[in-house]
Amino acid sequence: MEGLKIAVIGGGSNYTPELLEGFIKRADELPVREIYLVDIEDGKEKLDIVGNLAKRMVEKSGLDIDVKLTLDRREAIKDANFVSTQFRVGGLEARSRDERIPLKYEVLGQETTGAGGFAKAMRTIPVIMDICKDIEELAPDAWLINFTNPAGLITEAILKHTNVKTIGLCNVPIGMVKMVAKILEVDSDRVKMDFVGLNHLVWGKCAYLDGKDVTMKVIDKLADGAELTMKNIPDLNWDKDLLESLKMIPCPYHRYYYMTDDLVADEIEAANSDKGTRAEQVMGIEKQLFEVYDDPELDIKPPQLEQRGGAYYSDAAVSLISAIYNDKKEVHTVNVRNNGTIKGLPDDVSIEVNALVDSTGAHPITVGKLPPTIYGLIQSVKAYEELSVEAGVSGDYGLSLQALALHPLIPSVKVAKGLLDEIIEQNRDYLPQFSNKA
Ligand code: G6P
Repeated sequence: MEGLKIAVIGGGSNYTPELLEGFIKRADELPVREIYLVDIEDGKEKLDIVGNLAKRMVEKSGLDIDVKLTLDRREAIKDANFVSTQFRVGGLEARSRDERIPLKYEVLGQETTGAGGFAKAMRTIPVIMDICKDIEELAPDAWLINFTNPAGLITEAILKHTNVKTIGLCNVPIGMVKMVAKILEVDSDRVKMDFVGLNHLVWGKCAYLDGKDVTMKVIDKLADGAELTMKNIPDLNWDKDLLESLKMIPCPYHRYYYMTDDLVADEIEAANSDKGTRAEQVMGIEKQLFEVYDDPELDIKPPQLEQRGGAYYSDAAVSLISAIYNDKKEVHTVNVRNNGTIKGLPDDVSIEVNALVDSTGAHPITVGKLPPTIYGLIQSVKAYEELSVEAGVSGDYGLSLQALALHPLIPSVKVAKGLLDEIIEQNRDYLPQFSNKA
């Protein structure tokens, strides 16, 4: 059959209209025939609401794309050309627990960074392994575009433990390009950036405007308080002296490492007030969004979606899919196997870096040695991620403890152990790999 089959796992997500908008916008370069939105029984109501909006969006576009809603993941994956993953195991309730457990120990409670990210990874790894088994069996040539967080760690689990062709993706790099363009007051297609690091720990090594290096100009503006953050991260100002001496552009998530005390205090205050943690705020936003989506007159992505942190998600995903399909040999910032790109890190770990994308995949552009200032943090977070991948696959208590005890945001083994025991206890239903082991 002519045209592409796309399977979206976690199709009931409120981000689906974003993705649909991307496919509609790029219809001239991507001949999509079918989009399967797949979810689990518990997500059926959301799948129906967002799926019907997706159908209305396609109808409005006049394109011949068949949007199918299903709870049968295997049917969705069978013979797909591209599978994208945007699911959240345990939903926002689990995210809220991930944020609240660490705060009891006065350490960061965040969905991807620190102990919260570890808990999310432990819930996600068994599910992604199952999905990959389905892909290996039913669509062995498909590309898996993984958005599921913690995206770098999950991509590494797929790369190390399955035969699926995968590329991990995040909206932070594309978001940074857009924000730098805004800071410079220019169109974002005139700005290019060299990125290097890990997912949610990526540095803008250089920023270019029309090919000219403007890194220091951007840093000066940031040091003077220009905004560079996502909707889910408080926009605390950077230390001017640090930025000017580093000469690189940090991603919004670096704040969790460089401004830990202020951010933990901020989180504790929010958690103890009516505001609640980010998951609890997002629950309110989601409720409103689904009410808006349910309006049978609505046939576009509504602007209210901009309250979520995932802006430009569709641009990143659909342009990457198009670069693979059309063999574009175009630069994208993606999560891929290191393979010597960053000197010193193991070959088989995932990194977030610029890569040349063609029909055979993403080929990272060599970076070489990194300065100790940024390499030190990357190395220790990467070691935490490597241990977490193995812990998530095996359910090994000792490895899990090693991972948490090593994490730069966790101060001691005592705290690591308290966190781990509580994470296992509160996630029992989602951690089959840990059963009878703790
Ligand atoms: C950022 C991150 C995403 C994350 C999102 C959370 O954009 O890059 O990985 O999913 O924020 O946003 P939310 O609205 O759920 O807090």
